[in-house]
Amino acid sequence: MMQTTKLGRSGPVVRALGLGCMGMSPGVYGPADEAESLATIHAALDAGIDFLDTGDFYGMGHNEMLIRRALEGVPRDRVVISVKFGALRDPAGMFHGNDSRPAAVKNFLTYSLRRLGTDYIDIYRPARLDPAVPIEDTIGAIADMIRAGYIRHVGLSEVGVETIRRAHAVHPIADLQIEYSLMSRGIENKILPTTRELGIGITAYGVLSRGLLSGRLPPAGNKDDLRLARMPRFQEGNVERNSRLVEALRQIGNAKGASPAQLALAWVRSRGDDILPVIGARKRDQLKESLDALDLKLSVDDLARIDAAVSPALTAGTRYDAPQMAHLDSEAHA
Ligand SMILES: NC(=O)c1ccc[n+]([C@@H]2O[C@H](COP(=O)([O-])OP(=O)(O)OC[C@H]3O[C@@H](n4cnc5c(N)ncnc54)[C@H](OP(=O)(O)O)[C@@H]3O)[C@@H](O)[C@H]2O)c1
Repeated sequence: MMQTTKLGRSGPVVRALGLGCMGMSPGVYGPADEAESLATIHAALDAGIDFLDTGDFYGMGHNEMLIRRALEGVPRDRVVISVKFGALRDPAGMFHGNDSRPAAVKNFLTYSLRRLGTDYIDIYRPARLDPAVPIEDTIGAIADMIRAGYIRHVGLSEVGVETIRRAHAVHPIADLQIEYSLMSRGIENKILPTTRELGIGITAYGVLSRGLLSGRLPPAGNKDDLRLARMPRFQEGNVERNSRLVEALRQIGNAKGASPAQLALAWVRSRGDDILPVIGARKRDQLKESLDALDLKLSVDDLARIDAAVSPALTAGTRYDAPQMAHLDSEAHA
């Protein structure tokens, strides 16, 4: 039986590995295979996973409709559905900022409920801070929807310490969703101490640095793969350096019969019981590799070697490109 994690003082108890569904929609990490995506979600549920993460803008509604299909016949209380909202897109898929005004919150929520085919969402969170709207107004609108029965818990995503405190003062926050991996450890400075002080859980994404830490690089030439198009760590010059770090991880894993991805996931799990890794598996073999990592036993010495083999200081390139980094409240107030 998989261990459980409680998401913050106010949040739900979930199994110790979450599944992120973003890559199951086309246009993020290149094409996506619908049948394999559905099979992966079903395999995750069969293995006991109960936390599914999505965003209304992943595939512009496609991701939520995929989850709806996957959950047909599954009792609603068997899963915790986490939804991000607020990103504005156009029909060509371009991003145009965020809208987290109270009326927008209620509008986005209404459409998500319809696409997901459910009458409540477990955790609802603004994907990014909307700089034009006080966070108190956004969280206040989510709290209204909790009182009305449409949402169970409030979450945050990629925000820094000031926003976390202001949001939590309006309504208890269950979890902060934020990137955390061997390569991205910015949250350790101020954000993690703050969430721990306030009793807020962490749902960690990018645990494999979007696949980089698995050692399997996305196939070249795919324009629809945002990693190749925009992400600094995958660009020429950086990717070769980063791949050498993964090879060092592979050497450590060889002695334990573990892959680099499994060590990277086990390392995040070792960082605290308040941290739920949300793995971006979109194929059954990736899911199995991740599930098998839950049984990995790492000594203090193993963890120290992993820690030294791949670190932010050794990693080439930032986690997002410069325009996106500039918009991250979590980077401005880390
Ligand atoms: N709040 C936010 O701002 C935010 C941002 C990004 C993501 N998220 C959420 O976090 C979830 C995970 O994020 P991520 O995509 O950055 O995750 P990740 O787990 O770091 O990377 C996932 C990618 O790694 C590759 N991979 C190789 N081996 C794998 C294995 N054993 N298990 C899983 N993936 C493996 C796959 O790419 P290939 O299939 O191409 O090989 C997969 O698409 C997303 O689905 C989304 O729900 C949230």
